[in-house]
Amino acid sequence: MRTREIHLTSRPRGWPNEELFRVVEAELSEPGPGEVLIENSALSVDPYMRPKMDDVPSYTPPYQLNAPLEGRAVGTVIGSGDPTVPLGAQVLHRAGWREHALLPAADVTLLPDLDVPLTHHLGVLGITGFTAWIGLNVIESVTAGDQVFVSAAAGAVGSVAGQIARLRGAGRVVGSTGSTEKASWLCDELRFDAAINYREEPIGVALRRVMPQGCDLGFDNVGGDHLGAALEVMNDFGRLVMCGSISLYNESRPSPMPDNLVHVTRKRLTMRGFITSDHLSLREQFLAEVAPWVSSGDMVTRETVINGLDLMPRAFVAMLSGATTGKTVVRLTAAEQ
Ligand SMILES: NC(=O)c1ccc[n+]([C@@H]2O[C@H](COP(=O)([O-])OP(=O)(O)OC[C@H]3O[C@@H](n4cnc5c(N)ncnc54)[C@H](OP(=O)(O)O)[C@@H]3O)[C@@H](O)[C@H]2O)c1
Repeated sequence: MRTREIHLTSRPRGWPNEELFRVVEAELSEPGPGEVLIENSALSVDPYMRPKMDDVPSYTPPYQLNAPLEGRAVGTVIGSGDPTVPLGAQVLHRAGWREHALLPAADVTLLPDLDVPLTHHLGVLGITGFTAWIGLNVIESVTAGDQVFVSAAAGAVGSVAGQIARLRGAGRVVGSTGSTEKASWLCDELRFDAAINYREEPIGVALRRVMPQGCDLGFDNVGGDHLGAALEVMNDFGRLVMCGSISLYNESRPSPMPDNLVHVTRKRLTMRGFITSDHLSLREQFLAEVAPWVSSGDMVTRETVINGLDLMPRAFVAMLSGATTGKTVVRLTAAEQ
């Protein structure tokens, strides 16, 4: 059986482009004992994939050139050598960027039986929603009345983080994003109290304007100028969840940190980073709280769905540049609706 997968052929310098990737045909074997063969239905498109394209040490090893890339995917088991993962089961795994995956059964997770589109297991009920939940449960927590700022708020993690803060009784939830349409979505549908379009107004000026009572809890997905602006408005004893730094991922040389870190001491701030995969044992707890919010409509979600394996590199660049909203996924089969 033939299949197709995407390879990275050379490492990006600065912004990646579609020419760095190649769709490659490969031969697929039958699953042996203890293995499963999966037909992927949807592939996750994530910012962390960009730093993995650089050959630098990190918490996760860099991508290999001219080999199938790693990423989360959901799909259906079409061949099984392990009774615990039967034919027809829907599973989550990390062999994305390809049409089929042949994996040890131990490397796949059976999807919980929830009445939601399969793609939600990559987004609001997948690792991105889980990331927001870990940030606001384990790393910090929301106190009633908190003034909250979320950067990259119209993205997969940010849109969930802002809504968790609202549902937990935050006093005010403010988000930053890069377009007027996304800012309207945050206020009109996700019920943020205010949203900033950082492409229209300098983030520091805008944040001071929309957070007149300062910020008690920040959830930073962007780093750089957004982190610097947040430090300016933080209240004494404020907390900052350091989730990601997407503004730095395409920098070809290390960027200087914000020049106002002095506020961490003067305002007695707590800043704490985390990696979601350190907390996978809490997944059931996360689903028990967030899945009912999604089915009741208390939590609104949006996915940007791009069809076809060949468009995965384009979807990846689009997500990095802000051309997508909510969770970005590439769909391979029409079966999962
Ligand atoms: N700590 C963890 O374990 C963990 C796990 C998952 C994700 N993360 C991090 O969480 C963050 C969000 O991830 P996601 O999956 O939810 O991605 P996402 O927000 O769905 O997509 C990325 C968005 O970031 C915004 N952006 C890009 N460059 C920017 C810049 N220079 N300044 C401001 N905004 C910029 C763009 O939206 P706009 O149009 O709004 O600018 C873009 O659409 C990333 O930093 C990611 O690395 C961390």
